[in-house]
Amino acid sequence: MIKLSGRLNELLKHIDGESVADVGCDHGKIAVYCALKGKRTVATDISEQSLRKAEQLAKKHSAELKTVLCDGLTGIENGEVENVLIAGMGGIEIVKILSDGFAHNKKYKKYVLSPNSEAKAVREFLQTEKIGISRDYVIEDMNKFYSIIVAGDCDFKPLNDFELEFGMEYKTCEASKKRLKKEYMQLKPIADKLAGDSKRRFILLENLNEIVRTE
Ligand SMILES: C[S@@+](CC[C@H](N)C(=O)[O-])C[C@H]1O[C@@H](n2cnc3c(N)ncnc32)[C@H](O)[C@@H]1O
Repeated sequence: MIKLSGRLNELLKHIDGESVADVGCDHGKIAVYCALKGKRTVATDISEQSLRKAEQLAKKHSAELKTVLCDGLTGIENGEVENVLIAGMGGIEIVKILSDGFAHNKKYKKYVLSPNSEAKAVREFLQTEKIGISRDYVIEDMNKFYSIIVAGDCDFKPLNDFELEFGMEYKTCEASKKRLKKEYMQLKPIADKLAGDSKRRFILLENLNEIVRTE
């Protein structure tokens, strides 16, 4: 079977139903894993070299995997899959992929999104589109933090400023609290020099007394 990292395993937990598209699949581990579990799976990537890796992995495991070389959701038919996974790229790129897709009426039941930066931009997009977020938390794997946002599978609820900035589960998720405290400690000595969005974020961080100031 395919060996998955803690991060990939965590993402996989959210992929239910019978079909999934792994957008920006690269190594293709999740896509091949899902295909082997009997899910109708589409793996896409904008890079031919990356897609080749997924194809080779599928071949190695004799998995039935549809692969498409394309930008974002462009190569996935409307309604072709229930779940869409987009992980391991920046939040701005994820927003671009989703908004281009939405402009072509490409909407799916559930989105599993894992931006490696700019998670706030992803939340803002989901809020604007009135897409509900069911989970929004952080995991720590191999000393790195990863944001995971699961959306589309629940009713829409507006987020407050803190939830928009730090993710809906910032008060309860241990990895999220650890990351916020670390960020606060790094920013505190240079707080005077912060401006714009960074300053705004720092002010919100300062308000999380019980998270950033406790031992
Ligand atoms: C760092 S890898 C992440 C691979 C995998 N999703 C993961 O989380 O481990 C990012 C992949 O996204 C692909 N990618 C970036 N922008 C893309 C886009 N607009 N459409 C499709 N794939 C894209 C890159 O070519 C690369 O293979």
